[in-house]
Amino acid sequence: MAFTVAIDGPAAAGKGTISKAVAAHFGFAHLDTGLLYRAVGARVLAGADPVQAALALDASELDGDALRTAAIAQAASHAAAIPDVRAALVDFQRAFAARKGGAVLDGRDIGTVICPDADVKLFITASAEVRAQRRFDELTGKGAATDYATVLADVKARDERDSSRATAPLVAADNAVLIDTSDLSIDAAVAQAIKVVQAAR
Ligand code: DC
Repeated sequence: MAFTVAIDGPAAAGKGTISKAVAAHFGFAHLDTGLLYRAVGARVLAGADPVQAALALDASELDGDALRTAAIAQAASHAAAIPDVRAALVDFQRAFAARKGGAVLDGRDIGTVICPDADVKLFITASAEVRAQRRFDELTGKGAATDYATVLADVKARDERDSSRATAPLVAADNAVLIDTSDLSIDAAVAQAIKVVQAAR
């Protein structure tokens, strides 16, 4: 039976960690939909047209490690504001959501646009400062040369672009359960999310 968990929220709020943990706990498949936009962004940086890149996207391109750079994130955020790019990626996401055995999709518009009938909707958020600190730790942990002020400015710029775009802006679905991870440990945030999903099963 299909069972869809939609997890949305801004960058570095903890969506990815929570989504992976929920999927592992219940044995559901997991799709990080940000990787779709990142793969398009990477192709745009290599000179491709964004809409053509989205239409030609192949699941084998979704290599999380290679796509998680600051430059690709910004290119992804720009490409994600183009309605035809978003439209080209809808079918893939909906097919994933409908697979038997349950699916967790995380992104920005899963509960509002991609899966408005999801069985569970979570909106994961945290203050911009906390999210920037996490992203800074992650980037410097991987050896990237950056500073906190730059990362904070990037986080805010991406929030602004993702929230203000006309098509599928970042916004919590009316019936989403809100989890603010600013003052929560990873374990506590994951436990809250699992509890909400368990209650809906
Ligand atoms: O979650 P992320 O940082 O990997 O996402 C990269 C960009 O892709 C982000 O700035 C907004 C966009 N995105 C989107 O518009 N809709 C989604 N469902 C997922 C990501």
